[in-house]
Amino acid sequence: MGSKEIEKLPAPAAAPAEPTRGRRNRYALLLGVVVLAGLRLFAWSREGQGWMQAVLNPRTTLFWYPCPDDSTTLCSFLNVPLDYMDPRPNETVSLALRMIPATVSPKEQLGYLFTNPGGPGGSGTAAVASYGRKLAAIVEGRYNVLSWDPRSVNLTAPALGCFSTDGDANRFVRDIEHLGLPFEARGSPSLGFSTNASLAAEYAWTVKLDAFEQALASSCDPDAAHKIVRASSTAFVARDMKRILEALGEKKLSYWGFSYGTILGATFSAMFPDLVERVILDGVSDADSYTNDFWEWGRSGMSDTRKTFEGFFSACAKSGPAGCAFAANDSTAEGLEERYHDLLEKLRQEPLPVSHSDVGPGILTPSDVEYTMFHALYAPSTWPNMARLLAETERGNGTSMYATANVASGKLARKDPARHNPFHRAMSTGSSIASTAAIMCSDTDPEALRDTSTRTLSQYMHDLRKESRSPTADIWAIWISTCRHWKAKAIETYRGPWTVADGLKKTNFPIIFFSQTADPVTPLKAAEKMAAGFGNSSATLVKQNGFGHCSLAHPSLCTAKIFRSYFLEGKVPAWNTTCDSDDGFLFPHPDAKVREVEALSVEDAELRRRMWDLSRSFKEARLGPL
Ligand SMILES: *[C@@H]1O[C@H](CO)[C@@H](O)[C@H](O)[C@H]1NC(C)=O
Ligand SMILES: *[C@@H]1O[C@H](CO)[C@@H](O)[C@H](O)[C@H]1NC(C)=O
Ligand SMILES: *[C@@H]1O[C@H](CO)[C@@H](O)[C@H](O)[C@H]1NC(C)=O
Ligand SMILES: *[C@@H]1O[C@H](CO)[C@@H](O)[C@H](O)[C@H]1NC(C)=O
Ligand SMILES: *[C@@H]1O[C@H](CO)[C@@H](O)[C@H](O)[C@H]1NC(C)=O
Ligand SMILES: *[C@@H]1O[C@H](CO)[C@@H](O)[C@H](O)[C@H]1NC(C)=O
Ligand SMILES: *[C@@H]1O[C@H](CO)[C@@H](O)[C@H](O)[C@H]1NC(C)=O
Repeated sequence: MGSKEIEKLPAPAAAPAEPTRGRRNRYALLLGVVVLAGLRLFAWSREGQGWMQAVLNPRTTLFWYPCPDDSTTLCSFLNVPLDYMDPRPNETVSLALRMIPATVSPKEQLGYLFTNPGGPGGSGTAAVASYGRKLAAIVEGRYNVLSWDPRSVNLTAPALGCFSTDGDANRFVRDIEHLGLPFEARGSPSLGFSTNASLAAEYAWTVKLDAFEQALASSCDPDAAHKIVRASSTAFVARDMKRILEALGEKKLSYWGFSYGTILGATFSAMFPDLVERVILDGVSDADSYTNDFWEWGRSGMSDTRKTFEGFFSACAKSGPAGCAFAANDSTAEGLEERYHDLLEKLRQEPLPVSHSDVGPGILTPSDVEYTMFHALYAPSTWPNMARLLAETERGNGTSMYATANVASGKLARKDPARHNPFHRAMSTGSSIASTAAIMCSDTDPEALRDTSTRTLSQYMHDLRKESRSPTADIWAIWISTCRHWKAKAIETYRGPWTVADGLKKTNFPIIFFSQTADPVTPLKAAEKMAAGFGNSSATLVKQNGFGHCSLAHPSLCTAKIFRSYFLEGKVPAWNTTCDSDDGFLFPHPDAKVREVEALSVEDAELRRRMWDLSRSFKEARLGPL
């Protein structure tokens, strides 16, 4: 969940631009040339076999062509009904798909492995481009790895149209971020704030946030915007997945979903239990509270945030200054956390001016540091850099911290001349705030939110921070408040049953529900609850003693082997199987290189290397330069 959505909060642009006839012809010609060149290039290679197979597969009705932005991947578009409840020939959605073809001979291939990167609102086509190949390597290249932009996301048309340009959406998000976080508004005794004054300031902050949420909801008003606003629920996305399977000539689904992708996977499995071939839900979110009680979803999502936050400081202290720039030789976890809070307090009293940075000049606020820390908790591979940023900031140099915290808005403000769009349709390059809202606010029951006053919301945020004892709860709460004013009512939703007792049907094959033991946004107890709901004939639970969001955040050879043998051999691990994370990943000492690898077999060492590699690309795709 979250992360990218909160910070980069991106948006789709205007309606798809039809290329002109002349341009289209030239494009078709060019495409033919590229296809031919591609075929010649690939036909003799090992990879080429899978590539040819994908393009020439007689069972598929999809036309695959080398993607215009990355010709080593294949792209396609698929038309599906806009409204499955009332399908009309003149009302369709054009799904944008991307795939990495299998690299083994046709006999050894196992079909298609679908994936979803999370969000809601994350772009599947972008995910496949950035880490699809690394993901394919975990399953030995035996699957075609495929994803797509879900309804209302990125290249899938029609665009939502809540904002008329990406620039508008990006500015809107930046305006929200520049409210700062409530803890900053609250002030502190050192600034002369009494408790009552703090609460009043916090409330005033919430009123502003609330006005932003109203503006967003109105901009996506289904009366003004396209009907797609009402046709973007996860239930419809699950139906799209079924259509994609049919278009591929596949009978059943193999799927590896992350974060929100676990809600999507659980929804698909609940709606179409017979179509489950292999499903791994990785970084499990509680689909029950997500669909029925959004406030509870927000609260429960923060259950292990504190644990992850403490993990950062204890691992930093343990590593010492050789691996963690924020540590001294005698640092303790408690001492480091105290310094972190002191730093925030100092910035609250006096923000740091930054004169030159990768995103230009500005001021560094404690909210910037909190946002950056929140993102760091997603993936321990960012921790050494986060520690360096903290150390520099503590020394009074906020340059890199500022640039990191503002990378999304900074990049968006500066026109990237290389970012032309070869797809000839609306493409999002920035904030997905409207996509996130369109999906999330469709899925959850609006009645549960409608009667909440701004006063109650303010109290909720306050309590969330206090109960979770996590400084990042403020950020999560902003997200949770998104749907309060949402006006559109989804055409179809799936809000349960989520347990066998309530009527959930047995799936064709058991699903793996996976969680780290310290995940900042999808806690272990959500995985336990969801797995228990599906029951032991439809589910199994795998845990990993590790930090961060999803298995890829903190790699484990043990987990990688379980996933590989599940996908390749259909081996279902026992309920409660627990893995350890690989040694040497948290704050690695620069001089202590791969000593533990020596004991591994060649095959295990290779899988471990691939998992670390995947972990790195996953982090880059989700968290950028952090
Ligand atoms: C599609 O056609 C129906 C009538 O058959 C019409 O009512 C509807 O407005 C059309 N939709 C669009 C998007 O043009
Ligand atoms: C939209 O898709 C394109 C192509 O996959 C990708 O380059 C771009 O980053 C995506 N936009 C977002 C906001 O993910
Ligand atoms: C704070 O507010 C409460 C309730 O509104 C009030 O009873 C109390 O007197 C106030 N305290 C101060 C110091 O103003
Ligand atoms: C930490 O201890 C090591 C070895 O005892 C020493 O070389 C180093 O200078 C110390 N570093 C700091 C920051 O005190
Ligand atoms: C602040 O840090 C940045 C990035 O590490 C560095 O380039 C810059 O020289 C530093 N500024 C000062 C005044 O030390
Ligand atoms: C599966 O769950 C049911 C109900 O909770 C229980 O009675 C049964 O023993 C379990 N079976 C296995 C194999 O664990
Ligand atoms: C799984 O482990 C938890 C404790 O980690 C325990 O409470 C639970 O009973 C176990 N479940 C099964 C089915 O073994």
